[in-house]
Amino acid sequence: MPATGRLYSTVQTSTKADTKGKLDHVAIIMDGNGRWARERGLPRIEGHRRGVENVRQALKIARDLDVRYLTLFAFSVENWQRPPEEISALMGLLEFFLERNTRELVKNKVRLRVIGRPEELPEKVRKKLDEALEATKDFKHYSLQVALNYGSRTEVLDAVRAFSEDAAAGKVDPNHLDWPLFSKYLYTADIPDPDLLIRTSGETRISNFLLMQCAYSEMYFSPVYWPDFDREHFVEAVESFHRRQRRFGKTGEQVTDAPKAEAIANR
Ligand code: FPP
Repeated sequence: MPATGRLYSTVQTSTKADTKGKLDHVAIIMDGNGRWARERGLPRIEGHRRGVENVRQALKIARDLDVRYLTLFAFSVENWQRPPEEISALMGLLEFFLERNTRELVKNKVRLRVIGRPEELPEKVRKKLDEALEATKDFKHYSLQVALNYGSRTEVLDAVRAFSEDAAAGKVDPNHLDWPLFSKYLYTADIPDPDLLIRTSGETRISNFLLMQCAYSEMYFSPVYWPDFDREHFVEAVESFHRRQRRFGKTGEQVTDAPKAEAIANR
């Protein structure tokens, strides 16, 4: 059961007041750590450190709101181009996060998953990751996806390669290739598509993040830097989601009338 509380009730009320569907999966591009630090005269890494602290907070908020899937963009394939000292500090923070939080994930029954190419990460990080993945693998309800060494285009290439290998081995028929089959080859195979994609820091780009999975996600761009993106901002994003009508290619009337038609058919 989700925790009760004022903010949770606010969101519940707006969920019930409309017919726009449940918010199961939130994906976040946690941007603005560097600017947060610069504006305070601090080194960039201090912004990342505060960003990691905020990840703990975001996990708690997501659970309180009963968001089952939370996906965080932690390190992109393009991020290897950053200065070596920033890369190594980010890897250190990741290790620190896993060290400090695996027990908490287990306590809260949250399954950790990685999307990306974790095999290319430093060995120390992989070791901590493997421990956390193993310790949480049996949890079913809540799931935290950390995108690490992730890029959508790389993901598509990896999927095409794996599909081609299966086709060459006669395991799948390319003539029967459709989206449900192809999506099984993505890193997110058994994870539903995000309902809501949040990007912090005022940038309005997707930056090679979940391009396939966000085909019908609602977008929310916040001007707030990630270290300052708190419970109130998160709830604002969720409330914005609940005010929208998701149409998935249908007309507004079809979507509005569908529940009525279903009720009539079930009479
Ligand atoms: C974007 O800010 C942030 C990143 C590239 C790294 C995000 C990583 C973390 C918050 C830490 C690791 C995450 C987990 C899940 C433990 P930026 O550096 O691009 O900021 P700027 O645009 O202001 O320079």
